[in-house]
Amino acid sequence: MQYISDSAKLGKDTVLGHNAVIMDNVEIGDGCLIGHNVVIHEDTIIGDNVRIDDNTVIGKKPLSSPRSIFKVAKNLKPARIGSFCQIGAHVTIYAQAEIGERNLIADLATIRENVSIGRLNIIGRNCCIENYVKIGDRNKFETNSYITAYSTVEDYCFVAPCVATSNDNFMARDPKRFEHFKGVTMKRGSRIGVNATILPGKTIAEDGMVAAGAVVSRDVDSARIVLGNPARDVREVPEEQLLKNNLDK
Ligand SMILES: CC(C)(COP(=O)(O)OP(=O)(O)OC[C@H]1O[C@@H](n2cnc3c(N)ncnc32)[C@H](O)[C@@H]1OP(=O)(O)O)[C@@H](O)C(=O)NCCC(=O)NCCS
Repeated sequence: MQYISDSAKLGKDTVLGHNAVIMDNVEIGDGCLIGHNVVIHEDTIIGDNVRIDDNTVIGKKPLSSPRSIFKVAKNLKPARIGSFCQIGAHVTIYAQAEIGERNLIADLATIRENVSIGRLNIIGRNCCIENYVKIGDRNKFETNSYITAYSTVEDYCFVAPCVATSNDNFMARDPKRFEHFKGVTMKRGSRIGVNATILPGKTIAEDGMVAAGAVVSRDVDSARIVLGNPARDVREVPEEQLLKNNLDK
């Protein structure tokens, strides 16, 4: 059994699994493979040759508690998924997420509303990309990494497993926090090691590198390695690791 709204458009050679639910005005391109129990909400637009695995939900509307600090905007735009994306099982992609071409989004990842993602990124298993995040091209986010709201990740960045980023130094107390909310900024080619913590508003400059387990409380300079808690500048990134020497890899 499937439910396909009369107003949905499915492209040539697109195949749907059992119990797929395709809601009103959804457009799915040619040659897509949609798994079992996939739910695609109203107005979502999906390009050609996209694979979506079992139990994934696309175009979900955000929840809002009376205690949530941000109210959910009405009339969110539909989610858009570019051609040749591969989306794993149990992934949730919210409405008003804009995802470019050829991204791999692994099992259990969550991509919130008001996120834009360029092309050729790898978003690992169980990663969470919170709302109002902008991601460029060719980045890697490994398993369980957490990108907080209002962050920017440019291109060719690397985020190791279990990295945590943050945006609120007031930790949910004091109205002053509303003026100071700020996510993190990863400039082109910057890298963060496994289990590091990046404090609110910090910038990791081009080719900057954060060692495993570091707590970053100051901006990281271009092509410098920082290490420890609090993270301290220890040395420069080796020449052979600079992005300009690795662009073909
Ligand atoms: C920054 C890093 C590259 C340094 O590696 P390295 O140059 O081989 O460092 P060394 O092993 O020679 O260690 C040099 C010193 O720094 C210490 N050190 C190394 N890494 C450290 C870290 N992350 N935090 C604190 N101290 C560290 C070592 O204990 C050693 O101290 P000592 O001289 O007192 O014995 C490495 O620690 C790191 O963070 N790698 C990232 C791993 C990762 O997250 N990969 C992601 C994919 S899984």
